[in-house]
Formats: sequence, C-alpha cells, structure tokens
Amino acid sequence: MPVLPRPPWPLPALLAWAMAWLVFTGLQRVVSPVWALLAASAVAVAASLWGSTWWRRGLIAAGFPLALALTGWASVPPWAWLVPLGLLLVVYPLNAWRDAPVFPTPRHALRGLNTVAPLAPGARVLDAGCGLGDGLIALHSVYPHARIEGVEWSWLLRLLCGLRCRWARVRRADMWAQDWSAYALVYLFQRPESMARAGAKAQAEMPPGSWLVSLEFAVPGTLAQGQLRLPGGRVVWIYRLPLAAAVRG
Ligand SMILES: C[S@@+](CC[C@H](N)C(=O)[O-])C[C@H]1O[C@@H](n2cnc3c(N)ncnc32)[C@H](O)[C@@H]1O
Repeated sequence: MPVLPRPPWPLPALLAWAMAWLVFTGLQRVVSPVWALLAASAVAVAASLWGSTWWRRGLIAAGFPLALALTGWASVPPWAWLVPLGLLLVVYPLNAWRDAPVFPTPRHALRGLNTVAPLAPGARVLDAGCGLGDGLIALHSVYPHARIEGVEWSWLLRLLCGLRCRWARVRRADMWAQDWSAYALVYLFQRPESMARAGAKAQAEMPPGSWLVSLEFAVPGTLAQGQLRLPGGRVVWIYRLPLAAAVRG
C-alpha cells in the first residue's frame, strides 16, 4: 500500500477539519449526534497522523471538537466530549507518548543497511514500536529474505500495520516486555531518552554478532559499527552486539 504523502502545512489541518465537519453534518441526519461526533472525531484523529510535530497533530485532532464545542452546534451530553479524548488515547496511548509518537521511517532510509549489517536468509528482524509499518517496509526492502516482525503498543496502529504489512508478523505488545534474544537485528525509531534503555536491553538479551539499529538517535556512550547518512543530516546508527563503549577523545 503506498504511503500517503504529507500535504504542506496548514493544508493537513484544513483538510482534516473540513472532512470532520462533512462527516459530522452528513451523519447527524441519520444517526444520533454522539455517533456523529464519534465518527467525525475518528476522522480528525486519523488525519492527525499527517502532522509532522506534536503541536500540529494536536491542532489537527482537536480543531474539530473544539470548534463544535465553542459553536454549541451539537446537542450532546457532557460526557460525549470524552469521546475525542478517548480516541486520541487509542491512537497515541500514554506509554507510547513516553517513548515516541508515530513518526514513520522514510521509505529508503535503510538503503545500504544490508551491506553494513548482512543477515542470513530467514534471520528474524524486529521493529520495536512499528507504528503504521513504515519501518517494516524499509526493512523488508533491504532484507527481502528475513522474517520481519513488528511490535506496537497502540492496538489501532497494530491493526492498520498488520493490514498494510501482511508479509510481516505484527503483535500488539510493549516492546520493553518483549524478549529480544531470538532476533538477529532489532530496529528502533524512538526518542533520544529511550536509547540508553534500548542499549542496555540489547546488551542483556541479544546474542553476539546480532545488530541494534536506530534511526536518528544514538545509544549514548556506545561505539557504532557503522552509520548511514540520510539527506537532511539524519543518521542511521548501526551497533553490533556485544556493545562496546565509545572511547572519549
Ligand atoms: C516514531 S514511531 C516509529 C514507527 C515505525 N518504527 C517506523 O519507523 O515507521 C514510534 C512508535 O513506537 C510505538 N511505541 C512507543 N512506545 C512503545 C512501547 N513501549 N511498546 C510498543 N510500541 C511503542 C509508538 O506507538 C509509535 O507507533
């Protein structure tokens, strides 16, 4: 399935709000206002994945319910305003906020990774926090003969990812509670704050000769076996297990 291109800002917000209003006004004639609010908020929350930063995502998702509340157009019970909030929590569950929101790996970001970190056919590869599956797609393109797996905390993202990447094994689980010992390569695109924990987990669980790969964020104090440099200055950090401490210069 092709990745939806991200329209330039503020088009995503305007489109999302327009779609949400259309859905709400259209549905209000046929179902109760609460159901119309639910459906329109779902559209707005799904469209928030277009936002490239937290502020933009918040604006896209919250614009419609806020405008509706302020205009007083909908006669819904007060509890119904929890509906948009609940939807936000489904897509962006709290513990995923702590680690990383769903920003996707660019399609060709891992080109050349197989040269630095070669894998045997059938090797198991995990995207820890696989979101909508963009990391899985990038991994599959460089390791077509590997067994690609993903683990994702949000059940909605896990569902969409599973539909999108039918060739991968995708589970809903906490990546920190997963055992990484069977994997030849674990890939992460998380947050800088998560990287020390990821390094310690890999060191404790992953076998010698396996690989830990991180888009953008380095494992602090650790020597990388290699790097891929992406347009825009982003780096893919490639570590071989067991991890070695970086020598301070
Ligand atoms: C920046 S996105 C990366 C998505 C995907 N790996 C990619 O590169 O396209 C981070 C993802 O990690 C997920 N996540 C964060 N914490 C998690 C956890 N503890 N367990 C499983 N998934 C988690 C988030 O829900 C989000 O989808």
